[in-house]
Amino acid sequence: MNATKTIDTTGIDIEKIRADFPLLSRKVNGKPLVYFDNGATAQKPNRVIEALNHYYRFDNANIHRGVHTLSREITLAYENARNTVRKHLNAANPYEIVFTKGTTDSINLVASSFAKKYISRGDEVIVSVMEHHSNILPWQQVCEERGAILKAIPINEAGELVMEEYYRLLSPKTKIVAVAHVSNTLGTINPVKEIIAAAHAKNIPVLLDGAQAVPHIKVDVQELDCDFYCFSAHKVFGPTGVGILYGKEKWLNAMPPYQVGGGTIKTVSFEKTEYADLPLKFEAGTPDISGGIGLAAALDYVNEIGLDAITEYEHGLLQYATTEIKKLKDVKIIGTAKEKAGVLSFAVEGIHPFDIGTLLDQLGVAVRTGHHCTQPLVAFYCIPGTVRVSFAFYNTKEEINIFIEGLEKAIRMLK
Ligand code: ALA
Repeated sequence: MNATKTIDTTGIDIEKIRADFPLLSRKVNGKPLVYFDNGATAQKPNRVIEALNHYYRFDNANIHRGVHTLSREITLAYENARNTVRKHLNAANPYEIVFTKGTTDSINLVASSFAKKYISRGDEVIVSVMEHHSNILPWQQVCEERGAILKAIPINEAGELVMEEYYRLLSPKTKIVAVAHVSNTLGTINPVKEIIAAAHAKNIPVLLDGAQAVPHIKVDVQELDCDFYCFSAHKVFGPTGVGILYGKEKWLNAMPPYQVGGGTIKTVSFEKTEYADLPLKFEAGTPDISGGIGLAAALDYVNEIGLDAITEYEHGLLQYATTEIKKLKDVKIIGTAKEKAGVLSFAVEGIHPFDIGTLLDQLGVAVRTGHHCTQPLVAFYCIPGTVRVSFAFYNTKEEINIFIEGLEKAIRMLK
């Protein structure tokens, strides 16, 4: 594919960028791959693949455990990776950055640990109707265990939170608010600063699920003033199996450890154990060391391109795709919020999303179909699911043209 024609005002050098991602040049079903499933996981640049490779070839040792050179070197590299994440989120301190297995793990950590200390019978937790199951189920489970009540902020037809209802839900019983920064199914960018300010006015902490935000927009946890922020490395061009929990020092210090074991302690005896300081208190067992280093390589790569340029470029892709898809009969866009990241979900009247996804796959176009782990959300729209196109900065308008042509063909065949 000749992608150079799509260079625009953002300064994104698309040809150079695409050459950094080896997987983008493969064929699928005999056709050049059009990878529009970045919301599920993003492809990896050579930089990240090489960092993983280098780690296992030359650097492998355990961290925080050895006086020998390899162990000291890799401990330093891992702590440098933590600091890269700190800088990326503009967190105040490196010990407010906890390595986890991913967003789901981060949210489970907070739900479980926070609930033990702060949630009791009759208390309330607020999420929203558009949440990924990963930001519903951990809260549902701790609410069930502790006799607390889970409440959901409703949304409007455009897929925006109904803020008046949110303000109404906040009460002296509310112990925590947990919402998505960006919706994985709709692309809605939620007004998180307003959400946080309203909760803080009542001394309620806020957790943001940033899995779909970090790859697309600048996140500054101090400016947002969020109490917890979670994201996954693999959606931001890093490896799978590693993620981040940012937590304000005051909360992380007050919360009990989530999992315990090697690495989380200062001293252990059968009478009493003293736990380690942050962040080690929350990092039980040998972590995914190469994953942390790979994540730092991915964030460095993203920052070299620049998140402002990425946001603007992806906005251009979204606008173009939205304009083109609106020309097709019987297609309804699900998620028309004023503020959106590069996600285009849609339903086609009378056709199951799975059938469209299967035909697009025959043409080399990878999209996600179904409920996207947001069943309460698709129930709100009274549909079985959507077809979801989710962009990254390596996608092009030519790819959108291939997708639109394929979608037209699929609709003709299935109608
Ligand atoms: N949460 C990921 C998605 O939205 C897997 O596809």
